[in-house]
Amino acid sequence: MKEIQIKNEELIELLENIKNWFNLKNKDDIKIKGEADKDEHYTSEEYFKNINQEKHVGYPEVTFGMDLTNVNSTPLDWRKEIREFDNKMKSILSSPTCAVKMYYPKNGFMSWHNNHNASGYNILLSHTDNGDGFFRYKDPKTKETVTMYDEPGWTAKVGYFGSNKEKDKIFWHCARAYEDRLTLGFVIPDQNMWEMMCDDIQDQ
Ligand SMILES: [Fe+2]
Repeated sequence: MKEIQIKNEELIELLENIKNWFNLKNKDDIKIKGEADKDEHYTSEEYFKNINQEKHVGYPEVTFGMDLTNVNSTPLDWRKEIREFDNKMKSILSSPTCAVKMYYPKNGFMSWHNNHNASGYNILLSHTDNGDGFFRYKDPKTKETVTMYDEPGWTAKVGYFGSNKEKDKIFWHCARAYEDRLTLGFVIPDQNMWEMMCDDIQDQ
């Protein structure tokens, strides 16, 4: 996973609009799954060690947060606005639909998981006001744990999640928020398309 700079002005404007739109929303209207992880258990080495890697389905087993695209999680009138953001995003990045719009409240998280069931190239656009959150992963080759801390504002991370047929590319990861955090996630099956999207994000 590596960080790239967001320089595309149209994209910057759209992301600002999404952030401003979301800031005005009452978060009590979102049906949030799970409970706060105050002792950071689900993003710890201890939790990772206890995962049954053979049986792991790909999704995080424990979360505190909610995907805004889940029709049962957000008020009806948000959906039209979310669809409009999606359409603008598609036209700027000539991308497939943004599959995940994950909202984490303070102390929100996603436990260690590897998405082997939804393998492909990916792009994650995350926002926090103050940079108080992180994305953590296991380097597929060295098995080392790497923590990528948020920065104030939007950041972009790009990488590849391998399937169970590509053992050397299995990508274990988790995420943590200490303040409101929003992550827009894309999975792109085609490498060329992914590279074009990465270029589009970095080009002014
Ligand atoms: Fe994931």
